[in-house]
Amino acid sequence: MKPEEHNKTLKAWQTSSQYWEKYRDLIAQMFAPLTAALIQDAQIETSQKVLDIGGGSGEPSLTIAEIVGPSGSVLYTDPVAGMVQAAQTEANRRGLNNIQFRQCSGDQLPFADDTFDAAVSRLSAMFFPDPAAAVAEALRVARKDGRVAFVVWSSKKANPFFSVTTDLLDQLFEVRPADPDAADMFRFAEPGKLAGILENAGAKRVVERCLNFAIEAPVRAGPAYSFDEFWQMRTEMSDTLRQRLAGITPDQLARVKQAVANAAEKYFCNAAMSFPAEALIVSGRA
Ligand SMILES: C[S@@+](CC[C@H](N)C(=O)[O-])C[C@H]1O[C@@H](n2cnc3c(N)ncnc32)[C@H](O)[C@@H]1O
Repeated sequence: MKPEEHNKTLKAWQTSSQYWEKYRDLIAQMFAPLTAALIQDAQIETSQKVLDIGGGSGEPSLTIAEIVGPSGSVLYTDPVAGMVQAAQTEANRRGLNNIQFRQCSGDQLPFADDTFDAAVSRLSAMFFPDPAAAVAEALRVARKDGRVAFVVWSSKKANPFFSVTTDLLDQLFEVRPADPDAADMFRFAEPGKLAGILENAGAKRVVERCLNFAIEAPVRAGPAYSFDEFWQMRTEMSDTLRQRLAGITPDQLARVKQAVANAAEKYFCNAAMSFPAEALIVSGRA
């Protein structure tokens, strides 16, 4: 990927960081099954030294910091200043002092060889400018036999949380065919694609597993989690959606929102939101 394209990606994440901070608690809850799967596949336990690559507004770093405890440590990294700041603010609020923060890209990790017991990345590998270089870096900084584990989205079709909105927009407005290697959330949806990169980079015992789970809003006292809340969260968190919706008229916007509400109705029942979801966890050893 050309540097100017990655700079555009980073700029988009900088703008998105305020929304990832705003929805931090909801994001933590919705994607908690992904964190649990990463922790399991990377075999993270007390006293370990763990690297988080592309930690966004703080996950999985914040959860892992609790697991490794005071005798262990987490090194949170992300190339976007707004994300680093959001994660650091939350760690301070929680009084966690076993996390350190570094603003850096996954393909240029400023750490010595053999530093970490495990290196993990939740939903950020798709945005690496050079995935092979980033995987090689994760393997370099992990100790011998240390685990590396990446979680990425599986197909668009298996993830209506995203596609219920984007499919309708694609139907209503002309779209150009996507470049399969663009820094897009479904870049590694194809089974074997990221696993192949790990194998080529020399990872041992590479395993890819498919995780089916539900993206759910918290059950809470008071009014049910509504479609309007989902719509606001989705359209704020995604740079692509913010841009696409900014380019349409208020009338078109109202039509799209109503069409998405109709298509998403089945995911809002019994006073809760629940979307089926699918991710791939790709792990190996250094
Ligand atoms: C979908 S968010 C995931 C954030 C967090 N890990 C989570 O699961 O909530 C993607 C993250 O990838 C980060 N990112 C973008 N380019 C990156 C790069 N070159 N290296 C590492 N992370 C990158 C973004 O800044 C953003 O924080």
